[in-house]
Amino acid sequence: MSNHQHDVLIIGSGAAGLTAALHLSQYGKVAVLSKAALTEGSTFYAQGGIAAVLDNDDSVESHVQDTLVAGAGLCDEEAVHFTVENSRKAIEWLIEQGVAFSTRENSAGEQEYHLTREGGHSRRRIIHSADATGKAVATTLVGAVKKQQNIQWYEGYNAVDLITSSPSSSGGKRCIGAYALNLTSNEVEVFRARFVILATGGASKVYLYTSNPDVASGDGVAMAWRAGCSVANLEFNQFHPTCLFDPLARSFLISEALRGEGAFLKRADGTRFMPEYDERAELAPRDIVARAIDHEMKKRGQEHVLLDISHKGKTFIQQHFPTIHQRCLELGLDITEQAIPVVPAAHYTCGGVRVDLNSKTDVDGLYAVGEVACTGLHGANRMASNSLLECLVYGYSAAKDIINHWDTPTLTTEVPQWDDSRVSNSDEQIVITHNWHELRQVMWNYVGIVRSDKRLQRAQSRVNLLKQEIHEYYANFKVDNDLLELRNLVLVADLMIKSAQMRKESRGLHYTLDYPELLPEAKDSVLTPQP
Ligand code: FAD
Ligand code: SIN
Repeated sequence: MSNHQHDVLIIGSGAAGLTAALHLSQYGKVAVLSKAALTEGSTFYAQGGIAAVLDNDDSVESHVQDTLVAGAGLCDEEAVHFTVENSRKAIEWLIEQGVAFSTRENSAGEQEYHLTREGGHSRRRIIHSADATGKAVATTLVGAVKKQQNIQWYEGYNAVDLITSSPSSSGGKRCIGAYALNLTSNEVEVFRARFVILATGGASKVYLYTSNPDVASGDGVAMAWRAGCSVANLEFNQFHPTCLFDPLARSFLISEALRGEGAFLKRADGTRFMPEYDERAELAPRDIVARAIDHEMKKRGQEHVLLDISHKGKTFIQQHFPTIHQRCLELGLDITEQAIPVVPAAHYTCGGVRVDLNSKTDVDGLYAVGEVACTGLHGANRMASNSLLECLVYGYSAAKDIINHWDTPTLTTEVPQWDDSRVSNSDEQIVITHNWHELRQVMWNYVGIVRSDKRLQRAQSRVNLLKQEIHEYYANFKVDNDLLELRNLVLVADLMIKSAQMRKESRGLHYTLDYPELLPEAKDSVLTPQP
């Protein structure tokens, strides 16, 4: 079994992981693991941009207030202040790294950054790179990482489980590394480190329809849970209101920035419906817009609604939304002339591994940053474009905390050997494929935009069966990428359902027919693994 030793092991190469890696690289040896290519993750596909207080007319207080309103009373105010106060610094750092954000000419004839608008924001505050912000961020950060001698990156490595030391006399245990499957050799290797950062992204792949890439299978939440970390607010999975409805491009996102720049949501007969649901109409927070679309589709038996920006004219659309315009053209749809058929799809995991302002989890030496973490910023519903911001701010705060504890010695604890007794390959790969499909279908049908006690019970009993079957499969056969992801997905699905069952109210993204009201006291739903 190959062994690797670094000062810091970072699992995940999105905005969160690479921000931490770049800040740490001056101090010691950093390893970055990625299941696929370094650029492959939700970060690369981000469209709208990054929310930050950059305009002189904007203020920290205003951004904080908008975030708190979108979060439906559940945000941690300290985390919100911390994030927003650090927003300008985070963007300045990205600009230093070389990210080219879109500019415009102001009234004095000077170039300034163009700020767009999205749902929940009371003003323009989203800095962006046309409609492909994530691509600009991901390629710039990957480029910077590849220039750092202290950072060693491992593409095609699937982290299987964290390695922890046995509990000390004071009761605590420490994370000392991870096992990872080398997807080329199909062998499990050991990565030892003094500090470990989980930056594995979200878990939206647990749903049948999602805007997320394949890597978003909740691995970090599952690994952290198995290592003894508590998780919070996993019932709040955000459904993006507008994904393209097209059998050939099911997961392609149509950015909320279209609505920010004036696009209307319409019924098949061309009438607008959002003003009937909320006074902020198309710019209401996502939970409200997604529920309104779901309601319209169900009421009228329609497979989708329409998003229309054609009235803004060809030049404006091509300039602001070149990627979306081009992708739709490839699929035979000219958005400068036609409305776009759209449906909601699973987009963002608001809950995750519980961390503090330093991104520390419950286990010593283990940090969680980005979408895998629950910092308290998003509460019951994430406001648009606050996610990349969170990756940057908390990626840096994890690095800073590690630097402050740089003297922590390497533990000499022996690492348990990876159990190599499972030598046979699966004789029935079809079981994995079927279970994947069944799990994602169950979550889509019963743990979706509108929930009820009965639906959640149904989901729970099916997930219990799947869990058992997948567990047996895992115990008997050699692991591969699909089996590892499925094992994690079923665990995360189980935690999501349990969290949803704990919440006896409707708040933000969790809407249930049995408890339509908001309880007076807002509480996180926290789950803690039994030792
Ligand atoms: P990711 O960027 O998802 O990266 C996860 C990394 O972890 C990948 O490298 C993956 O390979 C690796 N990984 C996962 N599991 C393992 C494992 N077991 N072993 C090894 N590696 C592993 N947010 C905004 O703020 N603004 C936007 O405009 C915006 N637009 C979006 C558009 C789309 C289509 C999507 C899907 C999301 C969008 N979001 C947006 C959300 C935002 O992009 C994500 O929340 C954010 O990029 C997550 O970054 P991350 O670093 O946490 O994870
Ligand atoms: C979008 O561009 O609509 C996505 C923005 C986000 O998820 O924050």
